[in-house]
Amino acid sequence: MVQPTLNTEVYDAIHPSNFASQFINKLVVVTGAGRGIGRHISIAFAKAGATLALLDFDTERQKETKSLCEAEGAKVHRFACDVTKYEQCVGVVEEIKKLGEIDVLVNNAGGGPIRGFTSQKFEEFWAGIEQNFKGAMIMMHLVLPGMKKRKKGCIINIASRLSSLECRLIAGREPLLGHCLYIIILGRQR
Ligand SMILES: NC(=O)c1ccc[n+]([C@@H]2O[C@H](COP(=O)([O-])OP(=O)(O)OC[C@H]3O[C@@H](n4cnc5c(N)ncnc54)[C@H](O)[C@@H]3O)[C@@H](O)[C@H]2O)c1
Repeated sequence: MVQPTLNTEVYDAIHPSNFASQFINKLVVVTGAGRGIGRHISIAFAKAGATLALLDFDTERQKETKSLCEAEGAKVHRFACDVTKYEQCVGVVEEIKKLGEIDVLVNNAGGGPIRGFTSQKFEEFWAGIEQNFKGAMIMMHLVLPGMKKRKKGCIINIASRLSSLECRLIAGREPLLGHCLYIIILGRQR
């Protein structure tokens, strides 16, 4: 019997080497680009030739991501931004638009403790909604109109497979309500 193995490498089909130069003259915005998945998405787009606008409130880590992307030859702009703060996002998106039209928006900023709805204080739960849901909604609200007008563009929203625990919410187990809300509402976007 073949034993399942854990793949921690990028799958061949989506390896950045397949996309070399395909994003030249494309402007890609990545939120939460300071570390983790956001950093590596940024590096992958840098390898594909994109110009990058990196958003994060952790400016030190953001600087490191910028250097890593520049090492791949990309033009990189970084913006200190908490994506849960509407006015900050408005200002940052205005600045980004001075660089050109936004071709791709990656809503990656998110995180927070993984605990059930009633196992955290309400304020913690709501902070999770703001971090994982409101931020992406603000960015889409600001970026989508331009994409609709130009009839092109791509928005990638990073959620969590914890969002598939909707039925466990009903069963009263330990779901991540914020992520459930997030994916359900995004699924209804047109
Ligand atoms: N790591 C995983 O196993 C995993 C699994 C499923 C989904 N995800 C999702 O992927 C995304 C990234 O996960 P990660 O593990 O790389 O997280 P991480 O905590 O390593 O990095 C998140 C980055 O986002 C930034 N950030 C957080 N909130 C922000 C805000 N309000 N405004 C601006 N920047 C903000 C942080 O400063 C950090 O640089 C999250 O949305 C997370 O829910 C992660």
